[in-house]
Amino acid sequence: MPRDIGVGVVSLGWMGRLHSRGYRGIREHFPELDARVRLVSACDTVPATREAAVGEMGFARAVEDYRALIEDPEVDVVSICSPNFLHREVALAAAAAGKPFWIEKPMGVNAAQSRDIALAAEQAGLITSVGFNYRHTPAIEKAREVIRAGRLGRLYHVRCWLIADYAASPDGPLTWRDSRTTGGSGVIGDLMSHGVDLVQYLVGRVESVMANTGQFITERPIPAKVGVGHSGYELSDEKGPVENEDYLGMLARLDGGIPASFEASRVAVGPRAEYVVEVYGSEGSLRWNFEFMNDLELCLGRGNEFPGYTRVMAGANFPHFSRFQPSPGTSMGYDDMKTIEAAQFIESVLTGRQIAPSVADCWSAAEVNEAALRSAALGIWQPVPEVSGLLTYDA
Ligand SMILES: NC(=O)c1ccc[n+]([C@@H]2O[C@H](COP(=O)([O-])OP(=O)(O)OC[C@H]3O[C@@H](n4cnc5c(N)ncnc54)[C@H](O)[C@@H]3O)[C@@H](O)[C@H]2O)c1
Repeated sequence: MPRDIGVGVVSLGWMGRLHSRGYRGIREHFPELDARVRLVSACDTVPATREAAVGEMGFARAVEDYRALIEDPEVDVVSICSPNFLHREVALAAAAAGKPFWIEKPMGVNAAQSRDIALAAEQAGLITSVGFNYRHTPAIEKAREVIRAGRLGRLYHVRCWLIADYAASPDGPLTWRDSRTTGGSGVIGDLMSHGVDLVQYLVGRVESVMANTGQFITERPIPAKVGVGHSGYELSDEKGPVENEDYLGMLARLDGGIPASFEASRVAVGPRAEYVVEVYGSEGSLRWNFEFMNDLELCLGRGNEFPGYTRVMAGANFPHFSRFQPSPGTSMGYDDMKTIEAAQFIESVLTGRQIAPSVADCWSAAEVNEAALRSAALGIWQPVPEVSGLLTYDA
């Protein structure tokens, strides 16, 4: 692959804009890649967004139909940032055209769609990337180093929760996320896919689950004007049904029989985006909370003079940190995780080595999510089917 890479971004909502900024940041933060990434084409169905793509975001052109973007000879790689129901058809078109793609989680509206996407990429021999951005946080990468070096001793158990308030208000808009057809599952696909990936990345595969779901808000106002991400919506007086779950509680067994618990909510009043993972071992423990993403809480060794957690702030000794900040304790942000993800995608494309989170990783998380839904419906433990393909979480 030449070092000049033309990029196409399908859908310029929250994530599409973030992917675009990620690509723009590669040259500055990862100069050694010597990658000349050009924003060639953007696709969105909203005319004002297409105008902004060219006028403000630096794309050479913008199109209404994703097929025109994928067929564009100057587009070498594709970002797929559409609502979930479009993931499969766009990804299959990119795979058919032989173009590597970076797709947002949860990769389709169910595990069958995730599987189709993963197999199409595998059969086409493509490099891929998935929006598992929390993996790239310096504190998470450091946590993984600590765990893999055996410094927590024998791993006893794991806790992970993703408790958010983005849908806490019953007066919030009905969006594509609330429909089984356009979103698939609710908080399970939206947040728990991240939690599953984090735990698989840090500790190991989720092998079986026992889950319980809850839905508390059953209808919402239909928007008169659509926003970006979770904000900017204008509401009408009409209401429509919410079709998927607001809450998930889940027990799990990880590889090696390690017990774990997971929880996710999109309707909590209090926590804003409290995404936490805790790993407990015989010789120590660690905890990371996205709301304080630059910190790692760490306790290494028993019987210390000052037992208990110490808060360690990210600095140059944490992976990726000094690419963004020259001084310890100076915070990195959400966008930086996506710049790292963009760079890992482009490095994977340039080298032919899958460094970025892969479609197999996302299919694997989708199988956990679907096992959770099955378990909640049946009231019994469910095994999680294994997936094929190149997994990077255990690499
Ligand atoms: N990695 C993360 O942390 C993270 C965070 C948020 C969202 N996501 C994922 O990113 C994806 C997009 O979410 P979002 O929050 O950016 O959504 P959004 O609602 O902000 O944006 C969706 C965009 O898709 C466009 N669109 C709709 N139909 C289209 C079509 N037929 N062709 C082209 N564009 C079309 C809309 O006009 C809009 O610009 C979802 O899969 C979501 O799960 C990931």
